[in-house]
Amino acid sequence: YTLLKDIYRQQHDYLDKTVKISGWVRTIRSSKSFGFIEINDGSFFKNIQIVFDESLSNFEEVSKYPISSALSIEGTLVETPNAKQPFEIKAEKIELEGVSSQDYPLQKKRHSMEYLRTIAHLRPRSNTFSAVFRVRSLAAYAIHKFFQERGFVYVHTPIITGSDAEGAGEMFRVSTLDLLNVPKTEGGKVDFTEDFFGKETNLTVSGQLEAESYALAFRNVYTFGPTFRAENSNTARHAAEFWMIEPEIAFADLKDDMELAEDMLKYIIEYVLENAPEEMEFFNSFIDKGLIERLTNIVNSDFGSITYTEAIELLEKVKDRFEYPVEWGCDLQTEHERYLTEEVFKKPVFVINYPKDIKAFYMRLNDDNKTVAAMDLLVPGIGEIIGGSQREERLEILEKRMEEMDLDKREYWWYLELRKYGGTKHAGFGLGFERAIMYLTGMSNIRDVIPFPRTVNSAEF
Ligand code: 4AD
Ligand code: MG
Repeated sequence: YTLLKDIYRQQHDYLDKTVKISGWVRTIRSSKSFGFIEINDGSFFKNIQIVFDESLSNFEEVSKYPISSALSIEGTLVETPNAKQPFEIKAEKIELEGVSSQDYPLQKKRHSMEYLRTIAHLRPRSNTFSAVFRVRSLAAYAIHKFFQERGFVYVHTPIITGSDAEGAGEMFRVSTLDLLNVPKTEGGKVDFTEDFFGKETNLTVSGQLEAESYALAFRNVYTFGPTFRAENSNTARHAAEFWMIEPEIAFADLKDDMELAEDMLKYIIEYVLENAPEEMEFFNSFIDKGLIERLTNIVNSDFGSITYTEAIELLEKVKDRFEYPVEWGCDLQTEHERYLTEEVFKKPVFVINYPKDIKAFYMRLNDDNKTVAAMDLLVPGIGEIIGGSQREERLEILEKRMEEMDLDKREYWWYLELRKYGGTKHAGFGLGFERAIMYLTGMSNIRDVIPFPRTVNSAEF
């Protein structure tokens, strides 16, 4: 078969020649003596129009094929200078590969995103989701390309883990025990000695701690894998299962970390604009007007940067407009983040040096003893898409911090040893892949940028 991707990209090789394609009917209309089929073969975002007429021996049947039937078609590719599409295929032979039922749920009319979520197994056949998941695939490739070109080593960190990388206790437990009927110890805790691993294990919330261990051997590394959070956040930007990209760089500080994050994000945007022009044009017209211009501006300008303390001062001046209170020491809510990036900076902005008490144990303590060398990257329309920091490399300070935060040092013994054997300054960050895709496509709900979303009360597929 000839693929639509090749017909569109190298049309001169195919014009006025016989091509044989296969694909699924998107629309079909016919009159007594001729008809049109729009077909998509999966290899390209756009459809191609097939013209057929009575010269086909099976004209009557073809006219009645339901939408989404799978066909193979032989015909001549001809130019159509006055039509919307640059060319079409004049069919000489149409064969049925797999018929569709008349009750196919994705008819031509527009459906709501909510409805499409209920048919997550069919939605990749719609224009919107075809564009989203092509861009998702390309963005994943761009990320690997970015890091590999810079010599970063890709590390596969474990999915099942005994340590809580964020120390936040938001983990899904992995167990082979029947947790409802298992003996409890004195303190009411489940006795895991009979479990597969003989200890409590969980699905990873982040590969960072293991990535740090590899950065202290390979210097520059990154992870790219699924992560899991049992946080009860029913929002448009939280999922229980999401993918994260976590670079970790040795002999590097917070400034190096921010530079890397900015370079990476610009690289992904440029790659997608260049390699998915049809999809991006679609988002720009139907999902988020002005998207392409906005993304182009981002590539061509510097990200902003502000300290947490300065950000709080700005927010306090307009505190009446927020639902949540603002004062030094509070965590920034989405409404605060969006105000900073959408109204103050109007572009991506790093907020740095957060109070230590609202950040994870591993972040490096600043000289003021109150803040840590943290950075969050906020972007318009979403808020936080990256969270990162310089890591605490000083063993005594790290241990003291863990004690303050009531973390069991024995659980993190190997992480602490990294500080003992040539621990050096290092930094890293995590990019939420779905949030990056939302940003690239203008899609407004995380459920619509991951094929089978796992969010509160949704695991049907
Ligand atoms: O800010 P977070 O929690 O940082 C970490 O996990 C660090 N260990 C990263 C590092 O320094 N290596 O998460 C990083 C990013 C967030 O900025 C957000 O984009 C995304 O991961 N994220 C989520 N995305 C979707 N659903 C959720 N529930 C998410 N939680 C975090
Ligand atoms: Mg964060």
